[in-house]
Amino acid sequence: MVKLAGFRLGLESDEGYYTRGENTETYEEKRYGSQGGKYIDRRNKEWVREFFEEHGFEWEDDRPLEDKEVLVSAGGTGRIARYLEGAGADVTCLDLSREMLSEGRGKGEGTISYVQGDARDLPFEDDAFDYVVSMRSAHVIQEGLKDYMEEMGRVSEEGALMDTFSTPSLRSIYNPLLTMDSTLYSDTEVESLVEDSDVVDIDSKNEEFVLPYAAFLISGNISVLDTLVEPLASLNRMLESRDLTDRFSSVTVWELDPVD
Ligand SMILES: C[S@@+](CC[C@H](N)C(=O)[O-])C[C@H]1O[C@@H](n2cnc3c(N)ncnc32)[C@H](O)[C@@H]1O
Repeated sequence: MVKLAGFRLGLESDEGYYTRGENTETYEEKRYGSQGGKYIDRRNKEWVREFFEEHGFEWEDDRPLEDKEVLVSAGGTGRIARYLEGAGADVTCLDLSREMLSEGRGKGEGTISYVQGDARDLPFEDDAFDYVVSMRSAHVIQEGLKDYMEEMGRVSEEGALMDTFSTPSLRSIYNPLLTMDSTLYSDTEVESLVEDSDVVDIDSKNEEFVLPYAAFLISGNISVLDTLVEPLASLNRMLESRDLTDRFSSVTVWELDPVD
């Protein structure tokens, strides 16, 4: 067994990964605690902020999402939910894992509603929320990504945001070694899932992280590499801006529109 960046590397898969205490208690620290993890967290939140700015919200305003109802689907321990709570939204954080939700309770301002449920069959009425956000979670959906996307469209009145982990990418090389059942989707596969959908449309997509998350997370275990995070981030930005390389991005960020 090899240890890298806080992840156990092995060839067997692990469906219960997000329900076991040893993983849920350390989830945020392992994924977002290192310099590299903080960079990933910052980028994820920038994508969320940019999505809301495109929908007309000024992030410089105090609590720009005041009175907006936002669902964070497969929201885990509430990392993104707390970010949106800080922006003034009324936030619901849904996740399949009670253990992940329990870790989230008690953090933040205390206004988030935590709901246990399946993101592919949301326990909410049509248009129950203004917006739905799902970050870093579609990759754990091995079956039913179409339902996952359609549910985001069904319960949102204005729009939804999600990301997928993509193939082909540098992540394709090491992904089979990870034990948390990460599924990589090609952009074409995602697009074809909902091309005839009468519930949700793809509005736009952005290609991110040509250098995959592992390149940044390695600094979590090897602190001497912390200093590499900023140069790697610059290299990554340069690669993302070139057509030839950005097609190998490891993350695609999708903006979805509900179909009326
Ligand atoms: C990598 S974690 C991401 C958590 C959070 N979105 C974040 O960015 O920190 C993936 C989460 O998806 C949840 N999950 C997996 N399958 C799900 C499903 N069908 N419905 C809802 N949540 C699910 C897991 O329990 C886990 O909390």
